[in-house]
Order: sequence, then C-alpha cells, then structure tokens
Amino acid sequence: MSPTYYLTTPIYYVNDKPHIGHAYTTLACDVLARFKRLDGYNVMFLTGTDEHGQKVQDAAEKAGVAPQSFTDTVSQNFRDLTSAMNFSNDQFIRTTEPRHYESCRHIWNMLLEKGHIRLDKYAGWYSVRDEAFFTETELVDGKAPTGAPVEWVEEPSYFFALSEWQQPLLDYYEAHPDFIAPAGRLNEIRSFVKGGLKDLSISRTTFDWGVPVPNDDDHVMYVWLDALTNYLTALDWQNDGADYSTYWPCDLHMVGKDILRFHAVYWPAFLMASGLPLPKRVFAHGWWTNEGEKISKSIGNVIDPLALIDKYGLDQTRYFLLREVPFGRDGDFSETAMIARTNSDLANDLGNLSQRTLSLVVKNCDGIMPALPADISGDDAELLAAADGLLEKVRAEFDQQAFHEGLRLIWDVIAAANRYIDTQAPWALKKTDINRMGEVLAVIVETIRQIAILVQPVMPQSAAKLLDQLMVPDDARGFEHIAGRARLTSGIAIEKPQGVFPRYQEPEGEGA
Ligand code: MSP
Repeated sequence: MSPTYYLTTPIYYVNDKPHIGHAYTTLACDVLARFKRLDGYNVMFLTGTDEHGQKVQDAAEKAGVAPQSFTDTVSQNFRDLTSAMNFSNDQFIRTTEPRHYESCRHIWNMLLEKGHIRLDKYAGWYSVRDEAFFTETELVDGKAPTGAPVEWVEEPSYFFALSEWQQPLLDYYEAHPDFIAPAGRLNEIRSFVKGGLKDLSISRTTFDWGVPVPNDDDHVMYVWLDALTNYLTALDWQNDGADYSTYWPCDLHMVGKDILRFHAVYWPAFLMASGLPLPKRVFAHGWWTNEGEKISKSIGNVIDPLALIDKYGLDQTRYFLLREVPFGRDGDFSETAMIARTNSDLANDLGNLSQRTLSLVVKNCDGIMPALPADISGDDAELLAAADGLLEKVRAEFDQQAFHEGLRLIWDVIAAANRYIDTQAPWALKKTDINRMGEVLAVIVETIRQIAILVQPVMPQSAAKLLDQLMVPDDARGFEHIAGRARLTSGIAIEKPQGVFPRYQEPEGEGA
C-alpha cells in the first residue's frame, strides 16, 4: 500500500476576489501535492472557501445580495483560480455545504458532552476583519494588533475551556518540535501560550450567517471553530468515513503567518478536547509586498494572479513565487525580479540548454537519440552523479517546505550542465569525433530528462512539453524513473524542438 499524505490550504474568505496571497498559499500546497504523488504517495489535497461569519455577511449586505448567493458567486472566483493556476486539489470544500453543517454539529456535541463548553457572557473587543476577539490590553492605539478596527461586543456566548489546554499544548510542542514551522514561529506561539490562555468565545448572537449551535438557535458558531472543522469534514469524519481513517491525522496544514495562532493553538486544543489525534505539522509562510509596499485595497496595489499569468505565463509565475523568496519569510514582488527569473533562470539556463541540445541531436544525429557511453567516467560521471543525487536532496528540502532551496539545487545542476556543454563543445566534435559527440549529447539529454521530471511539480505544463520533446512516455515520468533507477532511451526518433520558455520582452514604448 502506498504511503498517504494529506495536506490542506486555509479556506479562503469569500468577502473579496482572490489575490496573490491566496494563490501563493495554494501554490505551495499544489507543488507539494504533485511532488508527493510523483514520489509514490496517495495524496489528498484540500482547499476551499470559508463562507460564514460577520465579515462575509457584511460584504454581502454591502453588495445588496443575500449571503448565500453572494458566497456562491465569490466562491466560484476561487474555483476559477484553481484552474487558472493549474492547481491539482482533490477537493474543493465550501463551509455552506450540508456535510459541513453536520460535521460542525458533531464536533460541538463532542466538546459539549466532554464538558468543555459552557454558556456565559462575552464582553470585549471584536475585529470583524480578523474575525477575532481581543482584550483591552492586546489593543494597539485602539485597534487590533493587525491594525484592523475593533468594535465593542457584549452578548451571551458559549465558551470553550481553552485555559485548560495551556500545559497540554506546551507539552505537545515540546514533544513534537516539527509541529510548528519555521522555528521562529514556534517560539512566538510558545510564548503566546506561556503568557496564559483565556477561555474562548465560540458563539455569536448578534448576526446569523453561520452554523446554528445545536439546540440553541439564538447562537451561530464562531466562524473559526466552523472553519477549522473543514479539515475533518472533507474526510467524512462526521460519518466515520473511510477517508478519515486513511488520511487523518493530517500531514500538513499550510497557512499564512497571520493565521498561525488559530491553527497552532485553538485547533489543536479543540482536537485534544474532542479526543482526536493532532495534525503533524503547521507551516506558516510569509507575506508578499508589492514593489516594497504593503499590499492593500486602499492603496490599490493588489496583485491579481491572473494578470501575472497573462503577462509572464503560468509556469513562469509559479516558478517565480516559489524561487524568489525563501519560503517562510516575507517577500517583495517586483517586475524587475520577475523578468530576471523569467529570462535568466528559465529562458536562458534551462530553456536554451534544452533547445540547443535537442537541436544538435536533430541536426547532427539525424534526429535519433544518441546513447550514453558504455563506461561512464570523468566529466560525464560527474554531471550524471549530480543529476542522480538531486531527488534525495530536493525531497529533503521540500519535506521542510524549503521550496526555494530545492529549486536552487536543481538550478545548480542546470548550471553544471551548461558548463559541461560549453567545455565539451559537442558542435565541434561533429568533424573530429562523431561518436563522442553523441555521448556528450546523451549525457546532457539524460540530465535534462531528470530535471524535467523533477520540475514537474512546479511547472507542470512546461515540464510536460520538455518531456514530450524527449519522447518520454507518460508512464515513465514518476520519480522511480530518476536518481539512476532508469536512463534515457536511445535510438528513438525525436522531432525538431520548439522553445519551451520564451523570453519576456518589454512591450514597445514601455522601456526596459
Ligand atoms: N478564512 C481564513 C482561513 C480559515 S482556515 C480554517 C482566512 N482567509 S483569508 O482569505 O483571509 O486568507 C487566506 C490566506 O491568504 C492566509 O494564509 C493569508 O496568510 C494569505 N494571504 C493574504 N494576503 C497575503 C499576502 N499579501 N501575502 C501572502 N499571503 C497572504 O484567513
């Protein structure tokens, strides 16, 4: 039986259309999901939309539409983004689905039966933008620490006994040092929990766009309890579904740094209180700025992922987002950096290498794939060893969500292949040693074959084009066909190659 891997994105609020931040979180998961599938895992990759709460209700009111039809429209934008970005999610969950209502009631009842919920009164600050409660002392200049406005709320509320989970949470972090990543974030969470946990308000009465609390219709569940439960709903946990036993506990919850607390404190506490196993890892990535500025609707500098795809290409965008910034840190988007990655890493380093090599095979070998040397030694051995060694190294980086490092390692080998082609100069060997020319070309093609297989998770379409040009059959594109476990097939005919990574040219009149 194949090993399993369950990974999730946050579910996105449907108060607005998707932007680069949403695309980024899901992209990272998509790359990992594809990587794991190629590496022999049975993967469940979940994304979706978070459709309840005051923020969404307010947005619907502002649009003058009923919440359900409003969320139908906006949720569709997120589904459209998954196809535009070529995401390979296995499910798209919506919190307005009946199965999710059932699941929320189920977790509520478990918590209630086990004595972790009591009815009381909430009096304190609430930030609709963050959908979070704050105490007076947490406010900064009268606002939430995120800068969001807060309003005073006083209402009857059910509370979850979060305070009881302070020590169990600290013990869990201690025993599972990989649970929260990157390490700096673990420290933040640890000191937050050490600072003391207060019981958490988990229901609201002043609006009604949410899952009704069982046996008390005056209350709807707090949107974060509702939202986090989606990770169980998708596995049909509420019905003891087969997916639940196959995929839970979750291998990875990918989140942005702003919502780590909900995933690394509240969620594990809900799960412990319900007697359910905890996810294995929560990774918090950083935030993008645009040309050095915070991205915000009021500044009007929101980056639309569809516009990036239009301008630079889909795989170029996917590559850039994961290569440019160390995953986990904040990063800055700039046109200059985007163009540099597109033209130098993709068009020059990988694109030209492949285009030059295959053109030589077509021109100098009658389009018949040459064979590797019978005895591999010297420079040939060095390059092939570097290519063969990549899978293990890249896997280790991707398992830590260090996508930028994994890609850097791959591009190191691409650089080595470019040095090799320049030193060996196969074009000059045509007249002096045609046999050696074939061997040199085969060593490069074999390197490109391995690289094309390895970059499939990040650039699925472009990698497929490269592999098509190399005549690699569909069933020979998994990771069991690299790392020295298989070699390129010689003696087959290939066609005249078409460039896979076009250079980005500034449109006339816009300057460089
Ligand atoms: N609905 C909640 C999540 C519930 S999960 C049980 C939510 N939704 S959100 O739509 O506001 O944000 C989703 C994700 O987008 C977060 O992971 C957040 O970090 C990410 N981003 C939003 N803006 C971003 C940037 N500028 N840069 C990178 N990611 C950012 O929170």
